[in-house]
Amino acid sequence: MATRIGILGLGKMGEALVKGLQSSSHAKNYGFEATTRSKESALEASRKLGIECHTDNAKLAASCKVLVLCVKPHHARAVLEEIAPKITRDHLIITIAASLTTAQVAEWSGGKAAVVRAMPNTPCLIGEGMTVYCEGSGVKPEHLKLTDAIFSTVGRAVALEESLMDGVTGLSGCGPAYIYLVIEALSEAGVKVGLPRKTATLLAAQTLVGASKMVLERGEHPAALKDEVTTPAGCTIDGLMALEEGKLRVTLIKAVLAATKRSRSLSKA
Ligand SMILES: NC(=O)c1ccc[n+]([C@@H]2O[C@H](COP(=O)([O-])OP(=O)(O)OC[C@H]3O[C@@H](n4cnc5c(N)ncnc54)[C@H](OP(=O)(O)O)[C@@H]3O)[C@@H](O)[C@H]2O)c1
Repeated sequence: MATRIGILGLGKMGEALVKGLQSSSHAKNYGFEATTRSKESALEASRKLGIECHTDNAKLAASCKVLVLCVKPHHARAVLEEIAPKITRDHLIITIAASLTTAQVAEWSGGKAAVVRAMPNTPCLIGEGMTVYCEGSGVKPEHLKLTDAIFSTVGRAVALEESLMDGVTGLSGCGPAYIYLVIEALSEAGVKVGLPRKTATLLAAQTLVGASKMVLERGEHPAALKDEVTTPAGCTIDGLMALEEGKLRVTLIKAVLAATKRSRSLSKA
């Protein structure tokens, strides 16, 4: 029988998950119902995704035993308190809200549900997401299996300890934005050396795809792959020297640290 998944807050990430699952080979394993804050968004989502979507969170909690919390973190408490009276010991709540802990989600939803916290990223929309998940109290192996199955359908998924989730947010949660900046910069560089802009963007983006696949599929250390491209007294070493002078490495490390720190401070807010 298909697992009925209730999406609390069908915005960009909720839609990415639903679309990703609907277009996967496991689509028949899942059914969906969702909520939004406004009736207009609910109508639009129903039309776009062909699923039941309304504004009654308590009704959703009553009809779905698996709930994915996709509202912004500052809306989470109100939504969880609203559904708390309908939550039973058979419920699993998977929260993707940045910075919220499993303990907060469990407490606000009445303490009965099993809670899993997940941090996906936007490439879930095209089946290339990266999701890290961790377990809170009351989680059984079948809950983790279901979480893994859901997020593996829209990319890669790994389990880690909850204490690492702010770092995950700083790296893979926010990471697509860093990489878009890198692609934009490389594309500008292409324009500077005379390439048409569209071609420059294609060259930059496909180079990132290719290099990423080399790392993932060959399983070699990125430094070893970098050395393969770098001929003695060739062109690449001059480019690398410019990157070292511009402190690219430490700048990227600082970007992840800054976003991790922000995620930690939001957890405590
Ligand atoms: N975006 C990312 O890259 C990313 C990555 C990882 C995790 N996340 C997490 O994913 C969550 C969602 O982010 P998003 O970018 O998808 O946000 P979003 O597009 O703004 O979507 C939020 C959704 O929540 C709905 N909502 C607000 N209050 C509600 C309520 N009281 N009851 C029911 N629905 C309600 C909104 O409905 P209306 O449209 O009617 O206002 C909207 O559909 C956040 O917690 C974020 O931390 C995001």
